[in-house]
Parts: sequence; structure tokens; C-alpha cells
Amino acid sequence: MDTTRLRETAQYLVADGKGILAADESTGTCTKRFDALGIESTETTRRDYRAMLFSTPGIGDSVAGVILYDETIRQETADGTPIPKLLLDQGVFPGIKVDTGAKDLAGHPGEKVTEGLDGLRERLAEYAGLGARFAKWRAVITIDEETPSTACLVANAHGLARYAALCQEAGIVPIVEPEVLMDGDHDVDTCEAVTRMAWDVVFGALKDHDVYLPGILLKPSMILSGKDAPARAGAEEVARRTLEGLLDCVPASVPGVVFLSGGQGPEEATEHLRIMNTLGDKPWKLSFSYGRALQQPALHAWAGDNANTEKAQALLKERCDANRAAALGKEFVAA
Ligand code: 13P
Repeated sequence: MDTTRLRETAQYLVADGKGILAADESTGTCTKRFDALGIESTETTRRDYRAMLFSTPGIGDSVAGVILYDETIRQETADGTPIPKLLLDQGVFPGIKVDTGAKDLAGHPGEKVTEGLDGLRERLAEYAGLGARFAKWRAVITIDEETPSTACLVANAHGLARYAALCQEAGIVPIVEPEVLMDGDHDVDTCEAVTRMAWDVVFGALKDHDVYLPGILLKPSMILSGKDAPARAGAEEVARRTLEGLLDCVPASVPGVVFLSGGQGPEEATEHLRIMNTLGDKPWKLSFSYGRALQQPALHAWAGDNANTEKAQALLKERCDANRAAALGKEFVAA
């Protein structure tokens, strides 16, 4: 295992004020987002949209990595530049989603287990050849009366650990993503208990599988009230509970924690990150790996028409710059 390369890649992705743009929506998910805005979803429109995002002037000021989907890492821009090259030329590392999705967990209605280990060694070798420096695997944990079950937590942690070990063997930094969903009316105490349990089980599995912690990034959800909870915890409380949970559960040798947005609004996700970065010392970097919270305003502005490129790119740049400030614990002042 090339521990130096893994460590350096992980540190690069969370260098001061830098974070990650998640643009690895599967074709199904991307189509759902396009459909909602009446945008036709074809290989070309998906390519045009992603190429528009990735050629935003100055994107490399705040984004050190972009997570791609299998279709995108193989695509070229309209002028023939391979997408990985478009990113690397701006100092942005290409990453790749390698799980094959969350499937129903047998015997546990309402719960999911993420699949994708079959053939993963060979796929990682191919992705490394296409320029991928890091990867992502997302596990999904649902909060309900009876869930999560131990079976769900253990099966997902096992998958994450085996994925992470395979990535490191291939010289690719694994982003380990256990997402506790916001769906439901649970309170913030419940989210905190479940999220801490998920982190504990995941780090136990990573240890069992001898995963090299300085060569991973953790991508967690924040500790939030359920989307439909009657009373929702405020920003200060979310930031404090999330940070305290991380301090208790995440080893100091992990170089960075990069949050998903998980359905938070763009400004809400930025504000939570900013507050956390004002709350005293922490052993790892705290930054972003947002999908919707970075892309949403730009997608709405682009609306399937390349004539809207400039406006859409300006909106993406604004979200990236706001999150750069948040990663540094600073207020963002729009230009
Ligand atoms: P969101 O920030 O939209 O939750 O997406 C991040 C991600 O990569 C989910 O797997």
C-alpha cells in the first residue's frame, strides 16, 4: 500500500478552504432532478451540464476534488477535452462513485444495504487508469420506530470497510460515507444516538479491516432533527452536537471530515459548516462534499440551455466561495 500517496491525496482534498463537489448522481437520480425542471435527460445534456459546472472559472479556488459518475469520467467536453483532464488542468482531482446503489436489506423491511463489492478490484484499476484519485461509497441508514437494526448498521459498515481496503490497495483514497437520512419526524436526540452508533460501528469495521485512517476521508451527515419533526434544532445546536459526536467517535488520524448536504438548503448547509469551524480546536479538517447544496442554484439557472452558462457558473462559484469561507470558519461576503 502506498501510504504516502494516500495521505497526500487525502490532505490535498481538504487543504485550507478546499472541499469537494459531489456530481456523481447516477443516471436515474440525474434524470429525476432534470425531470423536475423539465430538462431532457440524455447522455449529451448530462455531459453539457457537468462540463458547464466543471469549467466554472476559478472553481479550483475552493474545490479540490469532484466526484464523478461512471458515465461522466468517460466523457469528453464538446471540444474534445476528456472530463478528467478538464478537472486536473484546474488543480481539481477527479473522484468516482463506485458503489452500485443501496438495495433492500433481506429480512429488514425499510432498510438498505449498499452493494458493489463484486468486481470492485478490477473496476478500481480501470478508474485509476482513467485518472481517479479518490472514490466514494454511500451507505444509507434510515431512522424509524424499529430502525436502524444492528443488521443494517453492521452490513453497511462491513461493505464500507471492504470497499475502503480495496481502494487503498489501488492507491485511491476512499471517501467513507454513512448517511443517516433526514427523512422522518424524529427528534435531534434520536438522530444523535443513531449517528454516533453508525460512526462507532463504521470505525470498528475499518479497524477490523486494517484500513489506513490517514488515507481516508469521512463523509457524514450532520446531526439534525428529522425533516418533518414538529420542532427542529437550530443551527448552533446542530453544529455543536455534530462536532461533539465527531470528537467522540472519529479518530484523530483521519485527515478530514467532509459533509454531505442530504436535503439541507444551500445556505443552511454552509451555515452549519461555518459554525462548526468556529467552535475550537479539532484534530481533522471539517469541510464540504456537497451535491445539491452546491449545485441546486446553478442547475435551476442553467435549466437545460447552454445560453445560461455564465449565470449558472456564477451561482455555482458563489456557493463554492461561501463554503470555502465556511471551511475557514469565516462569514461569506458576496462580491
Ligand atoms: P448531497 O449533498 O446532495 O446530499 O449529495 C452528496 C452526496 O454525495 C450524496 O451521496
